[in-house]
Amino acid sequence: MASTPPEATYIHGTSPEEQRRLSVLNGFINDGSLRELGLRGGESVLDVGCGLAQLTRAMARAVGATGRVVGVEKDPAQLAEAKRQAAEVNEEQLLDLREGDAYTLPLFENEWGAFDIAHARFVLEHVGDPLRVVRGMVQAVRPGGRIVLEDDDHEVLRLHPEPPGFRSLWEAYMRTYDRLGNDPYVGRRLVSLLHQAGARPVRNTWIFFGSCASQPTFDAVVNNALSILRGARETILRQSLLDPAVFDETLTHFAAWGKRPDAAFWFSICWAEGVRPA
Ligand SMILES: C[S@@+](CC[C@H](N)C(=O)[O-])C[C@H]1O[C@@H](n2cnc3c(N)ncnc32)[C@H](O)[C@@H]1O
Repeated sequence: MASTPPEATYIHGTSPEEQRRLSVLNGFINDGSLRELGLRGGESVLDVGCGLAQLTRAMARAVGATGRVVGVEKDPAQLAEAKRQAAEVNEEQLLDLREGDAYTLPLFENEWGAFDIAHARFVLEHVGDPLRVVRGMVQAVRPGGRIVLEDDDHEVLRLHPEPPGFRSLWEAYMRTYDRLGNDPYVGRRLVSLLHQAGARPVRNTWIFFGSCASQPTFDAVVNNALSILRGARETILRQSLLDPAVFDETLTHFAAWGKRPDAAFWFSICWAEGVRPA
C-alpha cells in the first residue's frame, strides 16, 4: 500500500487573477512546448496536472482524430475552468479531462502501460514527492513510450539592471516553496528523476522564457512575475521571510523597472525527456 503523499500545497491557488496569469503564460510558452514535443499525429498522450488544459488542448489538436489525449487535474476549480474554456471554443470533445491526483493517476486498467507519451509541465515543483509522480508516469506509458517533464529551476532568473532588493525578494519567494516541502529547483533534477523512476533519459534542454523592453512579450513576462510575487505576499509575510514594507517597496521598484527602456529578463524552463525501457 502506498504511503500518504507528503505536503502538496499548490502555491499559486486558483483565483480568477491566477487563472488569467496561467492563461497568458500558456499563450507564450505553448509553442515552445509543442515544438519540443514534436507530435506527429496519432499519439496517445497523458497530461498530468493539466491545469486549465490549454496546452492539453493544443496537444489534442496536434495528435488529431487518430490520437487521444487525457488530462488529469487535482483541483476541481481548475478543472471546471478548463472544461469551460474547452466548451467555449467547441473543443470539449477533443480530450478527456479527469479529476485526479498525480500520485494515484485515475487511469483505467487497460490504460496503464499504453500511452505513447506522459507529460507534466509545472507540476513537479508543486508536489512533495516528485519521484512518485514520475514513477506513475513511467508506468502509464508503453515500453518505448516517452516521459516528458517541463519544470522550473527558479535560480536561473536574471534581471539586468537588477531592481533594488529584487534578489532578496526572489530568495524569499523560493523559500515559500521549500518551507512547504516543495522544491523551487526541481528543474535541474528532471533527468535524475527520470533515471530514478526507471526511464532512460534521452534529452535535456531549455525553453527560453525571457524578453527585453520593446519586445512585444515584455509586459506580459514582467506581469507574470509581478503576479506570482503578489500571490506569494501573504505566505512570505506570514513566514517572516521579508518585512512587509520591504516587500511592497521592492515590488514597486520591480514594477517601475518593467518600464525601463534597457530592462532585460532571462528565464528558461527546464525540459527533460526519457523513454520507458522495453
Ligand atoms: C502551474 S499549474 C500548470 C498547469 C499546466 N500543466 C500548464 O503547464 O499550464 C500546476 C497545476 O498542477 C495541479 N496540481 C498540483 N498538484 C497536483 C497533483 N498532486 N495532482 C494533480 N494535479 C496537481 C494544480 O492544481 C495546477 O492546476
